[in-house]
Amino acid sequence: MNRTYHDDYLQSCRQPGHFWADKASLIDWHTAPTQVLTQDDGQFRWFSDGLLNTSYLALDGHVAAGRGEQTAIIYDSPVTGIKRNISYAGLLEDVACCAGMLRGLGVRRGDRVIIYMPMVPEAVVAMLACARLGAVHCVVFGGFAAHELAVRIDDAGADVLVTASCGIEVDRTISYKPLVDAAMAKAEHAIRHCVVLQRPRCLAEMQNGRDVDWATAMAAAEPVDAVPVKATDPLYILYTSGTTGKPKGVVRDHGGHAVAMRFSMSAVYGVGPGDVFWAASDVGWVVGHSYIVYGPLLAGCTTVLYEGKPVRTPDAGSFWRVCAEHGVKTLFAAPTAFRAIRKEDPEAKLARNHDLSRLERIYLAGERLDPPTWKWLQEHFQRPVIDHWWQTETGWAIAANPAGYELQPVKPGSATWPMPGFEVAVLDDDGRMLEAGAQGNICLRLPMPPGCLTGIWGDSERFHDGYLARFAGYYQSGDAGYIDEEGYLFVMGRTDDIINVAGHRLSTGEMEEVLGAHPAVAECAVIGIPDELKGELPLGLVVLKDGVDRDAAKLNDELVLAVRQEIGAVACFRRALVVNRLPKTRSGKILRRIMRQMAAGESYTVPSTIDDPACLAELAIQLEALQLNVAS
Ligand code: COA
Ligand code: AMP
Repeated sequence: MNRTYHDDYLQSCRQPGHFWADKASLIDWHTAPTQVLTQDDGQFRWFSDGLLNTSYLALDGHVAAGRGEQTAIIYDSPVTGIKRNISYAGLLEDVACCAGMLRGLGVRRGDRVIIYMPMVPEAVVAMLACARLGAVHCVVFGGFAAHELAVRIDDAGADVLVTASCGIEVDRTISYKPLVDAAMAKAEHAIRHCVVLQRPRCLAEMQNGRDVDWATAMAAAEPVDAVPVKATDPLYILYTSGTTGKPKGVVRDHGGHAVAMRFSMSAVYGVGPGDVFWAASDVGWVVGHSYIVYGPLLAGCTTVLYEGKPVRTPDAGSFWRVCAEHGVKTLFAAPTAFRAIRKEDPEAKLARNHDLSRLERIYLAGERLDPPTWKWLQEHFQRPVIDHWWQTETGWAIAANPAGYELQPVKPGSATWPMPGFEVAVLDDDGRMLEAGAQGNICLRLPMPPGCLTGIWGDSERFHDGYLARFAGYYQSGDAGYIDEEGYLFVMGRTDDIINVAGHRLSTGEMEEVLGAHPAVAECAVIGIPDELKGELPLGLVVLKDGVDRDAAKLNDELVLAVRQEIGAVACFRRALVVNRLPKTRSGKILRRIMRQMAAGESYTVPSTIDDPACLAELAIQLEALQLNVAS
């Protein structure tokens, strides 16, 4: 890039229309937009009169440009022993057939399709096939239980679901079909067809009339061409945790997303056609959507699809093996993954067996990059280790070290500078701009750049109320932090009841609903407590109903099982503590923040509105005892 970061950043804030019109000209529109930024019912829209197709841009465009033989996907699956390269031409063929298969099942433009799959190439094929038809995919992470899947089927109103017979974890095979069957039975909205990829490890039972075998249907399908859609049409819905029990369906459009993905691949990651890009996440998360699938493919890179873990598949050297074997230039993972590797291989000895000369930069996001993890990576790998901050809602980095322009000196604990398009402000609770160094609510001035959420599926009020209502003219990120004198952004944690477990965003409210439904529980609170490996772990605090006398260990097991069955193993809910009472204000509001601070060993201020201060002393004793257990 010839322009400096500062040139671009200033232009993106002062003249967003000009800035993004230029970036939009880099993609191959079916009909180029004449309108760059418009407002529709108070909402900002990007490129509203443009027509395009994201699958065309990610596949057909590259094949037409002569890159058909280049590898699009490297599938590396240590849990099955399979390694396979898929070229852009091959991927295009599969996606076109899959689109034909879905069309044959009645899927049309605008229809929603649920994808509940492990990390197999067919998951990517199904996503791109939906995009090809203008249908809206809704990928659900495999670690979620049947209930969560049912909630998403209903909310999205999906008629077709695509799944696989099983997912493969480190030490076990998880049959998906019984889970999917249970979700379909539980959902009020009927799934007409369930397409099942049969994996040799475990064959699923099929139901006549409804279930469709992936391989048979693909073999019979006619390939279809990409359908041009409006830039503002939804490309996907991705559910993420909110503060209530009901997950939020974040909606992303076609046009803004394609432009932002292309821009971010060069500005944030400094990569282009032919580069090997590996985001070690899962297609069920936003990182997977943006940087396993769309970003790398739109930019003509080779993306690595890794079906394994950082450790135990088979060891803590797997990441380095994959980087060396496939010539990865850019590695992107959650800090928790490196904490897991460091724990098993503190001196990074397993990395020494591998030629990492092509690995240029390591990126981290999904949770705060703790300085010790940054230091460990820096010391052992001696290449730029870049923290960057973003959310499901934004789809790409709000703040990063701008590798595509010029790397800046790192300040451990900071995600560096805001990216072009994101005007970041730190506001106090009354909406006043805070000075450098003062911590407050991190907000983004409207309009947000292309690629950010365009709404919450089926609930426009929730978008407004949850993000825009509190600070006029700003999007409220839900994170707290500060900007220092040199413009570096430090993101310190959430301002709401969302916790981050192993880079996974979870709602404590949702867990509280599950605990509260247990017949012995009168009231409860779930808080995040610090964990060395996973960053945070949920801890349930439950008050029993009067007269109930339960064995604490047995109750713990029942509550743990309930969260596992209702939300899923991914919640990592392993501990519920019976307490006499919960600290509350006189108006009855549970003081979760104080409990969180107590559990983390932080100092806290007792509010004057507290109902009974003695309750805190009681709780402190119980938490202290627990902390000893946690540490041991
Ligand atoms: N399908 C089904 N179950 C899944 C699953 C999936 N796709 N992913 C995880 N699970 C299950 C696990 O088997 C585990 O079940 P268990 O409680 O029966 O053991 C549970 O969910 C928790 O999984 P996980 O958080 O992966 O814990 P772990 O102890 O197995 O592994 C780490 C620890 C740190 C290695 C792992 O959390 C990790 O790789 N983290 C990085 C996550 C990441 O990339 N996040 C990026 C989001 S941007
Ligand atoms: P998700 O929507 O699942 O991507 O989670 C987004 C949330 O994860 C953010 O709102 C932050 O709370 C946290 N997060 C992600 N990346 C970072 C980061 N680099 N530093 C601090 N927090 C982060």
